[in-house]
Amino acid sequence: MANGKQIEMRDPADTPMLIATVGAGTIGTGVAQALAAANYRVLLLDRSEVQLGRALRNIRRGLRTERLLGGCTRALDPEEILRRIEPITDPKQLARTPVVIENVTENWTIKEKLYREMAKFTEPETVFCANTSTIPITRIASVTRYPDRVIGFHLTNPVPLMPAVELVRGHHTSPSTIRVARQLVSGLGKHAILVEDSPGFVTSRVMMLAINEAISLLQEGVVSTPLEADRLLKTCFGHKMGLLETADLIGLDTVLDSSEELFRSFNDDKYRPSPLLRRLVAAKLLGRKSGQGFYRYYEASS
Ligand SMILES: NC(=O)c1ccc[n+]([C@@H]2O[C@H](COP(=O)([O-])OP(=O)(O)OC[C@H]3O[C@@H](n4cnc5c(N)ncnc54)[C@H](O)[C@@H]3O)[C@@H](O)[C@H]2O)c1
Repeated sequence: MANGKQIEMRDPADTPMLIATVGAGTIGTGVAQALAAANYRVLLLDRSEVQLGRALRNIRRGLRTERLLGGCTRALDPEEILRRIEPITDPKQLARTPVVIENVTENWTIKEKLYREMAKFTEPETVFCANTSTIPITRIASVTRYPDRVIGFHLTNPVPLMPAVELVRGHHTSPSTIRVARQLVSGLGKHAILVEDSPGFVTSRVMMLAINEAISLLQEGVVSTPLEADRLLKTCFGHKMGLLETADLIGLDTVLDSSEELFRSFNDDKYRPSPLLRRLVAAKLLGRKSGQGFYRYYEASS
């Protein structure tokens, strides 16, 4: 069913709009920071108060570092940016916003339940930007009241620094929803690349396969350490980051969930998650978020 009422996106520099970001984990934290730095007001929803506290601490740290490094928010006081973010745990508050960016755990059961719940509390014209890595947008839209209002909005980590957003057109996504998403991307100072719906879209389908292969090479002993594997790719191909560093940044649990989704969706062995990846996740070595993955980190990020 389509809904006729349209959302008018405003330039955040003129009148700050209220945008909700649901899920305050690895990526949701970056989304909230990027929105607030771009002068949006942000409702940051998570089911966990503890996670919201961590997210705000990480945003404060991120903004201070960016200021020290002379990033684009250097002229702004980190505390002023933080004041634009309102942490909440009650989904009823979503009725206050015309746009929701959803970033909860990469698990269909969790996302399905959330979208059904959000349908009860949001206005019919609300646009849902699904920041999933692999779950098809048409499937997500199928559990909402207005599937034309759902679009894939695939941001990559670290959100404040990455220049592009992969927008994904679901089967029912309307031109006006694409327009709203494009305006939001440009309000964030990024550019949008629109692709069609398919599990993993373009970026995750390629990236998860490559990461999984790098993990298999490590497991087989073809390369002896994560550092060597990453150094090869960086020096031979000029990549800024190695695949194992990237996996740690994404979160190994999210890499595993994403690979499982691709494996199920395509029913193709090439996406089967490597046993070493499963073992690390079972051992709760999740990468930066837990303080250790393929590498050790001074401080866990969540
Ligand atoms: N990590 C990345 O680099 C990355 C990049 C692009 C897209 N994504 C996608 O973003 C989504 C989140 O990934 P992540 O890495 O941030 O995961 P994460 O595990 O770090 O965080 C997920 C957050 O969702 C919260 N949550 C779960 N159910 C909820 C609910 N019903 N209501 C409110 N909050 C809820 C959890 O408490 C947690 O804080 C996934 O779909 C993932 O595929 C992740």
